[in-house]
Amino acid sequence: MPIQVKRLGRTFFAEVSGLDLRQHLSDDTIAEIRHAWMEHGVLLFRDQQFTTEEQIAYSKRFGKLEHNLRDDNAFVAPLGNLNPDGSIRDPNSDQSKFLRANQLWHSDSAYFAAPAMLSFLNGRVIDPNMPDGHTQWADMQAAYEDLPQSKRDAIEDLVAMHDMQTSRSVTGRVLDPEERQKWPPVYHRMTRIHEETGKKIMYVGSQATQVNGWDVPKSKKLFVELMQHATQEKYIYDHKWTQWDFVCWDNRRVVHRQRPFDEAKWPRVVFRSVVEGTGPDVIEGKGVNEFERFQALHGDRARILAAAE
Ligand code: OGA
Ligand code: MN
Repeated sequence: MPIQVKRLGRTFFAEVSGLDLRQHLSDDTIAEIRHAWMEHGVLLFRDQQFTTEEQIAYSKRFGKLEHNLRDDNAFVAPLGNLNPDGSIRDPNSDQSKFLRANQLWHSDSAYFAAPAMLSFLNGRVIDPNMPDGHTQWADMQAAYEDLPQSKRDAIEDLVAMHDMQTSRSVTGRVLDPEERQKWPPVYHRMTRIHEETGKKIMYVGSQATQVNGWDVPKSKKLFVELMQHATQEKYIYDHKWTQWDFVCWDNRRVVHRQRPFDEAKWPRVVFRSVVEGTGPDVIEGKGVNEFERFQALHGDRARILAAAE
């Protein structure tokens, strides 16, 4: 049975209905979901009451999972403002400051040489009365396509350094020496080629630090200009959470951010899983054609990686 897909945003973001993702889905259904995902960039499934094991099983159908930043054995991790005992964590704690970087526009794991491909969030602890704490996504593909040709040409071959410390500096968190060593700066093309659709999409976000060969002020000016363009209302979809919403996005196409909320008052926990990226998009300072690499790796099965897992 074909899945039901309804576009909610102007250029992207769709709701998929009629599926219980805890059930084992056929390879055909997974391929259909992946197809809709590549078309719409972000998919929302409502009422998916996953356990951790079920979320892992579903996420793995789309590729190999990234382990949690702080736990090599965890492939689904709670992201929120609760202590392990269920009490609300101090908003001034190190951990809260670290996570608050999620409130800046970003693409997941941009601080890895091979950044995240696909991310999944399940809203497990969401208070129906919480007035804010939404998540927003912006369509970098539509924004890129609307740039004047001269600007697209100007960023075509640029490579930028991305650094986890850059976004953390904004929230007042300094990486300690161990973290600094574990997550050194990395490099990404500013125009990436989407591996599965072949579309060109600009890649900027809160970790972007400096364009290779440029000074920092000139680099920042370009990053700000591109992000201001890409985060105009017409490119954004704003999602208000309901408990058990399951939202899945393609980090190669969109950036996202968490909206602020009263962290001392409302418990908010989303469970997160991530499919890891294929590989570095810059090797020895030169951009890689990611589309060609992906097709070479997966050929006809490029869109149904699901079957491989
Ligand atoms: C993430 C993220 C935003 C949110 O999980 O990668 O940025 O609203 N989350 O929780
Ligand atoms: Mn994120």
